[in-house]
Amino acid sequence: MADAPIGIFDSGVGGLTVARAITDQLPRESLLYIGDTAHSPYGPKPIADVRRYALEVLDTLVDQGVKMLVIACNTASAAMLRDARERYDVPVVEVIGPAVRTAMSTTRNGRIGVIGTAGTIGSGAYQDMLGVNERLTVLTAACPSFVGFVEAGVTDSPELLAAAEEYLAPLRHAGVDTLVLGCTHYPFLKGAISYVMGPEVSLVSSDTETANDVYRQLVSRDLLAGPDAAPSHVYEATGDSADEFLRLAHRLMGREVSAVRLVQTGAIDIPGHAR
Ligand code: DGL
Repeated sequence: MADAPIGIFDSGVGGLTVARAITDQLPRESLLYIGDTAHSPYGPKPIADVRRYALEVLDTLVDQGVKMLVIACNTASAAMLRDARERYDVPVVEVIGPAVRTAMSTTRNGRIGVIGTAGTIGSGAYQDMLGVNERLTVLTAACPSFVGFVEAGVTDSPELLAAAEEYLAPLRHAGVDTLVLGCTHYPFLKGAISYVMGPEVSLVSSDTETANDVYRQLVSRDLLAGPDAAPSHVYEATGDSADEFLRLAHRLMGREVSAVRLVQTGAIDIPGHAR
């Protein structure tokens, strides 16, 4: 089991930021990544639909024998975190908890901002987790156009900076000292976000924090790949064409992803949760 791959999933290419952070910390681990390109983007979709799509993909990863599931998508994490922990025997790591913990230990003035897709912000998942500490003030903003900018390879245009100013100005004026980038795509926009928020605001992104969580869980459960393991990185996409995934992956990550194969996710039965 320890030499089995870590299963990573996102609606599309954004979760590659998490995959890269995991590889940086755990280069001997094999990865099996699925981008649910048949249903992306998740951000604007009803949360019940996102939950179903996400469980279908996680089932597909488990059927391929992964030793751990990483929900490398904020919108999916917000939609179905508890379901996933009940449904699978393998450990499940998601992106919201790690970012929340880091934000809590980073803030000095107790004012934390969170940005994400409409689905993530609308779900209240970040607000609920941060809200357990009554001394914190949490301000949120959905930034629906950010994903499109990243996927178009635009990280510095006047239009992007204008959108960032519009979304982020209320958080800046409210005096947040820590901003959670609650979407897999936003690490690519750190320059623009930091420019608008100012250098004194700490940016917390879920990719490195989630990789830390994966590391902790593998060590504590004795699931680290053995010293002779030959790591393989396999990338799969749902839908009809792998080309779009490959094109975006190259644009965002360089040549790290060399091939993508298509995979079908099946219809699932959700009501009782456990499989
Ligand atoms: N991966 C999604 C997230 O982190 C962003 C892209 C999408 O909307 O599907 O929320």
